[in-house]
Amino acid sequence: MGRAFADPERSDPGEPVSNESKTVAVLGAGTMGSGIATVLARAGHRTILFDIDEVNLTRGIATVTSFFDNSVKKGKLTETQAAAAKGALEGTTDLTALAPCEVVVEAILEDLALKKETFGRLDGIVSESTLFHTNTSTLSVTGIASSSRIPGRVVGTHYCNPAPLMKLVEVADGRHTAAWAHKATIDFLSSLGKTTVVTKDRPGFIVNRFLIPWENSCIQALEAGVATKEAIDEAIPGALGHPMGPFRLLDIVGLDIHQQVATRLYEQLRDPRFFPPPMVARMVAAGDLGRKTGRGFYDYDDTRLFGS
Ligand SMILES: NC(=O)c1ccc[n+]([C@@H]2O[C@H](COP(=O)([O-])OP(=O)(O)OC[C@H]3O[C@@H](n4cnc5c(N)ncnc54)[C@H](O)[C@@H]3O)[C@@H](O)[C@H]2O)c1
Repeated sequence: MGRAFADPERSDPGEPVSNESKTVAVLGAGTMGSGIATVLARAGHRTILFDIDEVNLTRGIATVTSFFDNSVKKGKLTETQAAAAKGALEGTTDLTALAPCEVVVEAILEDLALKKETFGRLDGIVSESTLFHTNTSTLSVTGIASSSRIPGRVVGTHYCNPAPLMKLVEVADGRHTAAWAHKATIDFLSSLGKTTVVTKDRPGFIVNRFLIPWENSCIQALEAGVATKEAIDEAIPGALGHPMGPFRLLDIVGLDIHQQVATRLYEQLRDPRFFPPPMVARMVAAGDLGRKTGRGFYDYDDTRLFGS
C-alpha cells in the first residue's frame, strides 16, 4: 500500500491524499467508535476496531453489522454493498495489530491520561506518517497530542452522534498540529462524505457549547412537569427541524457521557447552564444510561448502540 499522507518530517505542506482504500483503525468500540467504524467500513476502508474489552468489542461489531443489515432492509444499500462493508470490518484487542493503519481515530473514554497513554503507545507501533484523530468532546487536543513524539500528526475530529447518520464533523487543530495533517484530515473526512467545520481547540468546540445547555434545559422542563418526554420529543423535531427529540438523542449519547461532558464543560467554563440537572445523576446511579444498558428515558429490547 502506498504512502497516503505526507511525511511529517518534511517541511513542505504535504502530498495530496489518495482516494484509494486505506487501512484505518478506530480505538474504542462504544457508541462513537462503532458509529465511526460504520462510516469508515461503508466507505470501503479496511477498518480495524480496537477495544480493551472483549464484550464491548463484540457488541460494537454487532451494532455495525446490524446497521448494514437494516440499511439493506431500507433500500439504502444493496446486499453486495452491505457484504463488502461487513467484510471491510475487523475487530481486535491487540494494539500491535494496528501497525499497518494510515489513520487512527481515537474514541475511547473521555480521560486525558488514557488518551495520552494510548497515543504514546501507538507512536511505537504505527508509521510516522499515520494520522492520529481524537474524537474528544471536552479535552484539549494540544494536551492529548503532547504524549506523541510527533504532535504535528494529531488533529481533533469531533463527530456528531449518531456518526453514520450525521454529516458534520468539527475539526480542531492542537497548538502543534502540522499543516499537512490538517489538510489530510479535511480531505479524508470529505472523502467520507462528511461536512467539516474548523473550530479552535476550546472546551466544547462549537456544537457542545450550544447542545449541552439545550439538552439540560429539556431535562429541566421534564423534571418541572412541563410535558411528557414523548410530547417534548415530538414537539422539538416538528418545530425546530431537529432529526430527533432530546430524550431519544440522550439515550443514544448515553446519560453517563452527557453527565461527564456537561460536568467537564461546567468546570472549565464556570457557566451554570452546563451543569447537569439532578435527574441525570439519578439515572446514572440507577444504571439507566440509555441504549447501551437497554434503559434510559425509554426502554430498548435490543443491544444496538444506535439505530439505522
Ligand atoms: N456519546 C457521544 O454522543 C459523543 C459524541 C461525540 C464525542 N464523544 C466522545 O467520544 C469518546 C467515546 O465516547 P463514547 O460515547 O463512544 O463512549 P462509550 O463509553 O460508549 O465507549 C468507550 C469505549 O472505549 C473503550 N475503552 C476504554 N479504555 C480503552 C482503551 N484504553 N483502549 C481502547 N478502548 C478503550 C471501552 O471499553 C468502551 O467500549 C469520548 O471521548 C467522548 O467524549 C462522545
